[in-house]
Amino acid sequence: MSRPSILATHPLFPEARTLLDAHCDVEYWQKEDRPSRAEFLKQVAPKDGVVCLLTEKIDKEMLAAAPKLRIAANVAVGYDNISVPDCTSRKVVVTNTPGVLDETTADFAWTLLMCTARRVGEGEALCRSGSWAGWNLDQLCGGDVWGKTLGVIGFGRIGRAVARRSRGFGMKVIYTDAIRASEAVEKELGAKYVDMDILLASADFVSVHVPMMAGTHHLINAERLKKMKRTAYLINTARGPVVDNEALYQALKAGTIAGAGIDVHEQEPKIHPGLVSLKKVVLTPHIASASIETRTRMACIAAENVLAFFEGQRPPNVVNPEALG
Ligand code: DGY
Repeated sequence: MSRPSILATHPLFPEARTLLDAHCDVEYWQKEDRPSRAEFLKQVAPKDGVVCLLTEKIDKEMLAAAPKLRIAANVAVGYDNISVPDCTSRKVVVTNTPGVLDETTADFAWTLLMCTARRVGEGEALCRSGSWAGWNLDQLCGGDVWGKTLGVIGFGRIGRAVARRSRGFGMKVIYTDAIRASEAVEKELGAKYVDMDILLASADFVSVHVPMMAGTHHLINAERLKKMKRTAYLINTARGPVVDNEALYQALKAGTIAGAGIDVHEQEPKIHPGLVSLKKVVLTPHIASASIETRTRMACIAAENVLAFFEGQRPPNVVNPEALG
């Protein structure tokens, strides 16, 4: 068989390029900016496969524009940018990169948690402003982390990795999920299963780790924010639309909750202007998995999925095995 023709919508990392280039003819997107929709549709049109980021929408229109396409390898664990049913009915295989980013993302959820509770952003800004007048007893007092209650919404790999880290802080861990974890996992992590309302009412830190799907859109809405403690903080490293950003802004403004650490945004790359205006919010640009090691590994996993597919094997991380048939 001739070498498959692939579009990679990013230059990727050298390790991933080496893998792909050995077996495929790859056109890499080289510009700093993400491709526009029109550029993406034009470049993907003649390809057999695409290695894409979560900024590319893989939908009916795109699939119609690329009639030869057989695989879409997302360089992300989440694949809400891809219409899986449309891919399946066109027999286009979809793959993702699970597992590899759990610990890095959990580290970052904790980074946000600590920065939010201890007002690190404000302290940093004060140091840089040149206007710090010196130590003061009540200066930038935040909330304690140690000994508090962590509430994890979504107890998959990342949620559990976040819970595991809380042990060093002597925290109580409660969690909620559609599926309760085994007794062994609960014991290992010292985590107690509770329903959503109890979690919201009892946690000092609520950290969200659910995938984006119809049922999780605005999972954290005005009503649920009202159920949280006034002293509590919300951390979101999952997907922007899981939290109603306008409701979050209103809750923060009204003092319904104490603060928030937000890595993912409802309409990326736009950030809710109200959130930008509030000091009690720590904002980051969707970088929870952004360590060199992890992002390199994610790109390599996407490459390995493509290679396995064109070698006639089942890709290790296929999302829609029905499309393989
Ligand atoms: C993912 O993998 O889904 C993240 O959001 C990007 O790392």
